[in-house]
Amino acid sequence: MTSPLRFDDTTYQSATTTVDGVAVTYRYFTGLTYVAQPVDDIQKLNVFVPEAYFNGQHVNGYNRVSAPIFMPNTVGGYMPGPRDYPRNSQPFSRGETILKALKQGYVVVSAGVRGRTQTNFQGEYIGKAPAFIVDMKAAVRYVKFNAGRLPGDPDKIITNGTSAGGATSALMGASGNADFFDTPLLALGAAPATDDVFAVSAYCPIHNLEHADAAYEWEFSGIYQWHRQKIRVVNNRRICTPVHGKLTPAERRLSPILKADFSGYLNELHLTDDIGRPLTLTPEGNGSFKDVIIAQLRQSAQEALTAGVDVTKYAGVTVVAGQVTDLNWDRYLRSITRMKGVPAFDTLDLSSPEADLFGSRLVAAKHFTPFAQDHTAVTSQLADADLVAAIDPLTYLLKPQSHIAQHWRIRHGAADRDTSFAIPMILATKLKNNGKDVDFTFPWATPHSGDYDLPELFSWIDNLCQPR
Ligand code: DHB
Repeated sequence: MTSPLRFDDTTYQSATTTVDGVAVTYRYFTGLTYVAQPVDDIQKLNVFVPEAYFNGQHVNGYNRVSAPIFMPNTVGGYMPGPRDYPRNSQPFSRGETILKALKQGYVVVSAGVRGRTQTNFQGEYIGKAPAFIVDMKAAVRYVKFNAGRLPGDPDKIITNGTSAGGATSALMGASGNADFFDTPLLALGAAPATDDVFAVSAYCPIHNLEHADAAYEWEFSGIYQWHRQKIRVVNNRRICTPVHGKLTPAERRLSPILKADFSGYLNELHLTDDIGRPLTLTPEGNGSFKDVIIAQLRQSAQEALTAGVDVTKYAGVTVVAGQVTDLNWDRYLRSITRMKGVPAFDTLDLSSPEADLFGSRLVAAKHFTPFAQDHTAVTSQLADADLVAAIDPLTYLLKPQSHIAQHWRIRHGAADRDTSFAIPMILATKLKNNGKDVDFTFPWATPHSGDYDLPELFSWIDNLCQPR
């Protein structure tokens, strides 16, 4: 009997679309179930292939066997991330990204993965952690299992995502073939193949959740006003309404305690800069680790200034004779503003997306830090520490237990306040310290968002993948 997970290249549709003035013709294979025993209809994927590859032709130097396989996800807010396609009108869609990747000659695989709000017909939760990453791994295993049948080079898989989707992408890169996921993958009937990937593209990855609260107070402690957007979806469109508030007296009391925790955590990571000098923080939260973040933000401001941008729109940026001579941390942070309360992620009422992510089959939400469990405002359980660690990319960088991607491109906007600048900086630095190839910047004036620099992302990929 042939495996139900065998890719069949004879059943497809074709389309031609103009992308940036160029006609792109592609074949697409949709709704392919990537596990033998799915638990939800979302566990399907779509494959898109440049038509040229079926005629023995090349695109951008690639052919049917050498093309990189680009795997963007649609995960946001740790919600379900359905498989995507061009001209998809759903608000989560990155259909344009798929088309542009096809124009670049990539094979695109868009897999649907479960998210924290999903239930089965009995009302039990089926998408709590680690479902999102188990599904993404199963999709990668499907692609690798179909090596030679599914076009593209399964040794050149590049994952891509934004925010919770950026975390998904980063976790794919960090946790390749980790034992922790074998049992759930087996239960789903995932294809017998590996799930490590070649390269990671992660935009503003909301990860390292266990330390994100402390990192947030390290950055924003002392700033009491918060400003965020309430997002509703009406007629497939996102409607954003600004909401403002102030930290309560209780939040103001907790903030310095969390902040004080951060230096201890950071120093235990033993990070070093590019020439081996330690990156550390004093108990007050100052020191070389903070200095490199400021230096990198300054460099980002300098690049924007050189490109003609008015960088003094943000307070704290000093420009003298065409040079960014200073970026004042406190003034700059007041100008980008705080977004979240205290704790920022493991909220004491369990209302955050992350507490919801750590629920279980029968429990809607759980705390995932001992701090929030100790200070909780509601009856609550603490999520299993092994689970919390298993979905944190850092875990795999601190203790060898996986196959880690060699190539990483990480972007976190200089105006992003969804998580502290420290969080992507720790990830990028630890990867570099572990000998990985890392391209990390804080793009100037860029809020929490992704896919905003696809030409640069694609040249990064081409540099790694194009035959020379
Ligand atoms: C996302 C944003 C957040 O601020 C967060 O806490 C979790 C997820 C997101 O956009 O995916």
